[in-house]
Amino acid sequence: MTMSPVRKYVVPLSLLFAFMRHLVTGAYVQQGQQAEDAVPSWDDLDQRPLPVWYDQAKFGVFIHWGVFSVPAYGSEWFGSYWRDKWGNPAYQDFVEKTERANFAYPDYAHRFTAEFYQPDTWADLFAKAGAQYVVLTSKHHEGYCNWNSTAIPTTWNWNALDIGPRRDLLGDLAVAVKNVTSPHTSKVLKFGLYHSLYEWFNPLYHVDKANNFTTQHFVDLKTGAELYDLVNRYEPELIWSDGEWEAPSSYWKAREFLHWYATSSPVADTAIWNDRWGQDTLCRHGGFLTCTDRYNPDSLQPKKWENALTIDKSSWGYNRNATWEDYMTVPELVHSLVQVVAYNGNMLLNIGPAADGTIHPIFEDRLLGIGAWLKVNGEAIYETTPWRHCQNETASSVFYTRRPDRLYVHFTKWPSASLLSLERPAPTQDTTVEFLGLSSASSSWQPTLPWTGLRGTSGSSGMTIQLPSLTPDILPCEHSWVLVIRNLANLDDPPKSAVS
Ligand SMILES: *[C@@H]1O[C@H](CO)[C@@H](O)[C@H](O)[C@H]1NC(C)=O
Ligand SMILES: *[C@@H]1O[C@H](CO)[C@@H](O)[C@H](O)[C@H]1NC(C)=O
Ligand SMILES: *[C@@H]1O[C@H](CO)[C@@H](O)[C@H](O)[C@H]1NC(C)=O
Ligand SMILES: *[C@@H]1O[C@H](CO)[C@@H](O)[C@H](O)[C@H]1NC(C)=O
Ligand SMILES: *[C@@H]1O[C@H](CO)[C@@H](O)[C@H](O)[C@H]1NC(C)=O
Repeated sequence: MTMSPVRKYVVPLSLLFAFMRHLVTGAYVQQGQQAEDAVPSWDDLDQRPLPVWYDQAKFGVFIHWGVFSVPAYGSEWFGSYWRDKWGNPAYQDFVEKTERANFAYPDYAHRFTAEFYQPDTWADLFAKAGAQYVVLTSKHHEGYCNWNSTAIPTTWNWNALDIGPRRDLLGDLAVAVKNVTSPHTSKVLKFGLYHSLYEWFNPLYHVDKANNFTTQHFVDLKTGAELYDLVNRYEPELIWSDGEWEAPSSYWKAREFLHWYATSSPVADTAIWNDRWGQDTLCRHGGFLTCTDRYNPDSLQPKKWENALTIDKSSWGYNRNATWEDYMTVPELVHSLVQVVAYNGNMLLNIGPAADGTIHPIFEDRLLGIGAWLKVNGEAIYETTPWRHCQNETASSVFYTRRPDRLYVHFTKWPSASLLSLERPAPTQDTTVEFLGLSSASSSWQPTLPWTGLRGTSGSSGMTIQLPSLTPDILPCEHSWVLVIRNLANLDDPPKSAVS
C-alpha cells in the first residue's frame, strides 16, 4: 500500500493549520460561527428581492487588473497557460525570450507598479461612460490580493501592500467610485468586486482538492476569510464570485457567507451577488445569473441576468498583443446594451488597465462612445423595465423597454425609406410618438399617422411610422435610435408567453 503525499504530512499539516487558525481570528471566525446557526438553502437565498439599485442600473464597468497585467500577454490566464497543466509552448517561449533563467510567476509582481494609477480619474471616466456600478478584481485565479489584506496572514507577500504597488489599489478605487455622481442619473456610483474562490497555485487549496474537498483548510484560512475581510473593510454592494467550478458550494461555505452578507453585513440591505458559488449554482442560484462569460440570451428572461463581456474580445486582462480587430466597436457595444436591457439583463463591460495604472485610450474611446449615446438615450435605458408584451421584431433590430406611462422603441438599424414598421404596439386615437433627443426647435417633424384605422379594434396592433429626414446637424445620436410612444392600448397587456 502506498501512502498519498498528502497523508504523509497529515500530522505536521494539522499542527500548522491549527496555528494558522489561531492567526486568522477576529471578525471572520466569529461571523462564520454565528452564520452556522441558521444556514438558509439556496432556494431561500434566491427568494430575497432583487435590490432596486441593481435592477435600475443596467450598465456597469468591470475591471480586470492584477499581476497578469505585467506580462500583459495572451490573457489574464497567463499564469495557468504558462505553468499549469495547460503548459502552452507559446507562453513558455515568451517567458524564455523576455525573462532571465529561473524566472518565476511571482517575480512579475515587482513590476506591478501602478505609478500612474489615479482612482479619481478612473471613476470620472466610468461615470462619463454612463456606468452606474464598477466591479474590480479583488483577486483573480493567480491569488494576488489587490487590497490591504495584511490582516489575513495567508495572503502574506502576495498582496498589493507587501509587493508591487505598495498601495491599497482596491480601497482607493472604492473611495473614488463612491465619491462620484453619474452625470446620466444623478446617482452616486456603486462599488462592487470580483473575487476568485479558487487559486491555481495555493498549496492549501491543493491539500483540500487532494482530499476530495472533505477538508476546508483553504476556505477557512484563505479564500473564505478574504470575503469577510473585503466586505467589512470596503462595503462592496455587489460580489461577482468566480473560480467556483471544481467544488460544491458546501465546500466553499458559500451559503453561510451570503446569509451573513445579506442579513448582518454593513451592506445587508443593498447587497447583490452573482451565480458562481460552487458546481451546483451556476445559472441556477444567485441574485442574478451569469451562466457563461458573455451570456447573451436572445429572449426575455424571467430572472435578472447579466452579460459580462469584454471590449478586447480575446482577453479580460490587458493584452499588449491585441490588434484593432480584437476590440469591440461602439456600435456593437450600444447594440449589445439595447438588447440586454430589453431582455431583463444588465451589461457589465470589461476593460483591462495596464500594470502602470494607465487605461489604454482605445478603452476610453469605447466607454466615452457609450456615454455619448446614453446622454441622449439614457431615459430609455436606466430605470426602465422590459416590455412583457413582445420583445423583438423586425429581425432583431427593434427592441422595447418601458416606463409606467410610455413605451420606448429602440431601432438599431435605420429602416429603408425611413419607414419603421412595428407589429406589436396597438395605437389609440391619443397615441403620440416622439423621437428621443430631437428637440422640437430643431425639427418640425410630426410622425404621420397611418395607424388611425386600427384604433380601438381589440387585438389589433401594428404601426408604421414615417421617420423624419434627419441631416447630420440634427441627428441626435449614432448607432441606435429611440421613439417614445404614449397612450397605447396594450402597454400593460400581460405577456403573450408564459413569462411571469
Ligand atoms: C499574438 O498576436 C498574434 C497576431 O495577432 C497571434 O497570431 C498570436 O496568437 C497572439 N498570441 C497570443 C498568445 O495571444
Ligand atoms: C492596512 O490595514 C491595517 C489593519 O488591518 C492597518 O493597520 C493599516 O494601516 C492599513 N494600511 C493601509 C495602507 O491602508
Ligand atoms: C466627494 O468628496 C468631496 C470631498 O471630500 C465631498 O465634498 C463630496 O461631497 C463627495 N461626493 C460624494 C458624491 O460623496
Ligand atoms: C469525492 O466526493 C464526491 C462528492 O462528495 C463523491 O461523489 C466522490 O465519490 C468522491 N470521490 C472519491 C474518490 O472519494
Ligand atoms: C428574437 O430574434 C431572434 C433573431 O431573429 C430570434 O432567434 C428570437 O427567437 C427572437 N426572440 C423572441 C422572443 O421573439
